[in-house]
Order: sequence, then C-alpha cells, then structure tokens
Amino acid sequence: MNPEESFKAVRNAMKAHHEWFKRSLPLIASENIVSPAVREAIISDFGHRYAEGWPGERVYAGCKYIDEVELICIDLAKDLFKSEFADVRATSGVVANLVVYTALTRPGEIMMAMPIPAGGHISHAPVYTKSGNFLGGTAGAVHGLNVEYFVFDRKELNLDVDKSSEKIREVKPKLLLFGASVFLFPHPVKELSEVGKEIGAKVAYDAAHVAGLIACGYFQDPLREGADTIQMSTHKTLPGPQHGMVLAKKELADAIKQATFPGLTSNHHLHNVAGLAIALAELKKYGKEYAGQIIKNSKALGQALYERGFNVLGEDKGFTESHTLIVDITNFQDKVGLGRDIEEKLEDAGIILNRNLLPWDISEGRNYLNPGGIRLGTSELTRLGMKESEMQVVADYIKRVIVDKDNPKKINAEVSDFRKDFQKVHYCFESELEAYEYIELH
Ligand SMILES: Cc1ncc(COP(=O)(O)O)c(C=O)c1O
Repeated sequence: MNPEESFKAVRNAMKAHHEWFKRSLPLIASENIVSPAVREAIISDFGHRYAEGWPGERVYAGCKYIDEVELICIDLAKDLFKSEFADVRATSGVVANLVVYTALTRPGEIMMAMPIPAGGHISHAPVYTKSGNFLGGTAGAVHGLNVEYFVFDRKELNLDVDKSSEKIREVKPKLLLFGASVFLFPHPVKELSEVGKEIGAKVAYDAAHVAGLIACGYFQDPLREGADTIQMSTHKTLPGPQHGMVLAKKELADAIKQATFPGLTSNHHLHNVAGLAIALAELKKYGKEYAGQIIKNSKALGQALYERGFNVLGEDKGFTESHTLIVDITNFQDKVGLGRDIEEKLEDAGIILNRNLLPWDISEGRNYLNPGGIRLGTSELTRLGMKESEMQVVADYIKRVIVDKDNPKKINAEVSDFRKDFQKVHYCFESELEAYEYIELH
C-alpha cells in the first residue's frame, strides 16, 4: 500500500466500524459510549500538549487553561465521590491500580484480592497461578507483590466474610483490594476492612466497573465503608474517555501524587482530563436517572433471559445490583458450543458481548479461551435510551440465536432495524450529533 492507500484503508475501516456499531447491540460490560461534548474535548488541542506535575506547579509552559480544566475535574471528582482528595492523572485503570500499589505497598509485601476466575482483574494478579503456571499479573509482575486471594462463595457470588476474615488474620496482608471485572453485588468492604484494620492493612477499592454507579449514589459507598482509596478506569459505567483516576483520604494525597508523577506518568493525556471533567459534569446533572436506569435494565435483561431458558447467575438475588450479568451457557454446549462459539454467533447477529470465565470453570477443566460463561453489560444500551421493555426485545434476539438457532444474518437485519430508533446519546448535554456518527475533519 502506498501512504494514500494506507490512509484510506485506515479511514474506511474506522468508518465501517462506526456503521457497524450504529446497527448493533453493544453489550460489552467494560465499555460505554461518550457524549458528543466529551468527543469534542478528546479531539481538542489539549491532546497535543504536555503538563507534567500538579496544576500550578507544572514542568511545562503553556498550561494556564489546562490547569483550569484539571482543577475543575478534580473538584467534580471530589464532589461526586465525596472524597477528600482526587488525582485525575492516571492514564488508565491499570495505571490507577499501580499508583495505589506504589503509594501503599513495597515489593515483596502481600496483597489480598479477588481470584481471577471469580472476576478479579489481571492487574490484581500475581506472576504465577497457584498451580505454578506463568500468569504475568500486574500486581506481581510489575510491582512485585505477593497476591493471596479472598475466599469466594460460589453460591452467594460474593466474598465469604468469615473465611476471608480468617485468611486475613492468617496471612496478614499489607493491602486489601476490593473490586472486580465481574462485579454483580457490592463487596463486604465494611466487614473485611474492620478485620484488615486490626492488622494494620490499608484498604483499596478498584471501581473500574462500577464507578459511574457509585458516583451517583448506587451500588456501595467504599470510602464510607472503610476504603482508603478508590481507583478506577473512567470509561465503563462512568461514561468518560479512556483514562483513570485515584481518590483517597487526604493523608494519602502526597504518596498518591508522588506515585502518579514522577512514578507512573509523564504526560497524563490532557484531552482525556478535559473529557473526564465534562463526563463528570454530565453525571452530576443526569447521573441519578442514568445509573438507576442501568440497574433496572440489567435486572430486566436478567429476568428476560432467565425466562427464555438461560441460566443467569444470581437468580435468587435479582441477578445483579450493577450493569453486569453473567450467564452460564454450558447447557448449550452440545447444541451451540461454549463461550467463544456463542460470542461469535451473537456477533454475526449484531449482538456484541464477551465470553467470560465462570467461578468454577478452571476447576471443571475449562479456560478463558472457550469458557462456560458470557458476560453482558447494559451501560451502553442505557445511554442509547433503552429501557426495560427494550431489554425484552434484546433477550428475544439472544434466545433466537442460541436457543432457536435462527439464522444470525436474518437476526442481524432485524437488530439493525430495531436500532434505528436509538441513535442519540442520552443523559448528557444536548447535541445534534448522533452516537456513532463519524466526524470527518480532513
Ligand atoms: C476491575 C478492573 N480494573 C482495572 C481494569 C483496567 O482498566 P484499563 O483498561 O482502563 O487499564 C479493568 C478493565 O476492564 C477492570 O475490569
């Protein structure tokens, strides 16, 4: 390809991607879509600049408006999360976790976190699995932490308070890390923090998935329940740009600032800080309704799938208290296959979600390549204006692909037609721009 052809090929692929998402049902739990106002910030000149350091104490010139924006972002974050301190410079959720590990622990110390098959994130994980296989998790491989796992109750789909308390007293971790990538129900932060404090442990909470819910008063309130820090990605239920931030009690401010810069960032992606500030302002104005609707939609989708023959986990607890649902699809193994096969079939039908480990998959001989579960998230469909009645329609499409084995191409055409009425981003500042409209500047 010559340079012009490369340019055209890249641009055409991006346009095709926009067109595809415009016609599909995006159900990936770790994703969302930003508002037009946030998109405007992301393509601003802030994206070409450097501003190392803290507002007012920069290592670079040219920062007067950047400082203004960053201070607004910090104030909004502190206000929404009722936090004494906020650092909005981490460039992603993994970096935010590393900032906390760096500020609160030293290599060789013990951290206790969620087991990966039960929903823990790879950034919480050790270098090796318990059976000695290389895993390369960030906590172990990058910061040298020894990771022990909380005890997970597979029936309750949550941490076992008694057994985890016993383990905390036995292994004496320096840090307890709550939060997960499969986060259906609030963790027992209060109960286990009390045990952690007995042995002098610090408590961190990875809110990557549930940050938008927490900011709007739903799910749980980690800082009031005993957490010393809440760190997060800013682009899942919190509908901001791809970025990160760390909130904390004020006595940890210096350690977190130092760990962030010069520790883990140089430039901190200023266009995303601006986008985050706008997303937080939108949450402050529209968040109560938005986050409440996410949870109503997840519960409605869980019930609708359950009624159509799917083994949605957590039925006895209303399926979920967040944006996420987990479905055990092993009963379809003979007819359709496992997680990866189902993910592919649904993608052909315009339904985009991801395969996911079930807490018992590893012990039953399955792995992440073709696990026994799928994970669904309702944040993006909620942003597109869908409510409980639309969740019935979504569940029907999924059933027709997996249970009835209808032709995915036929369903794809129907999904595309259904999507025509949901083309705007809701719960944000007004704009004429459609959700997946491709912006041509060249
Ligand atoms: C619980 C949790 N923490 C951290 C991350 C990493 O976030 P990022 O992709 O922003 O680095 C994720 C990503 O999905 C996550 O689920």
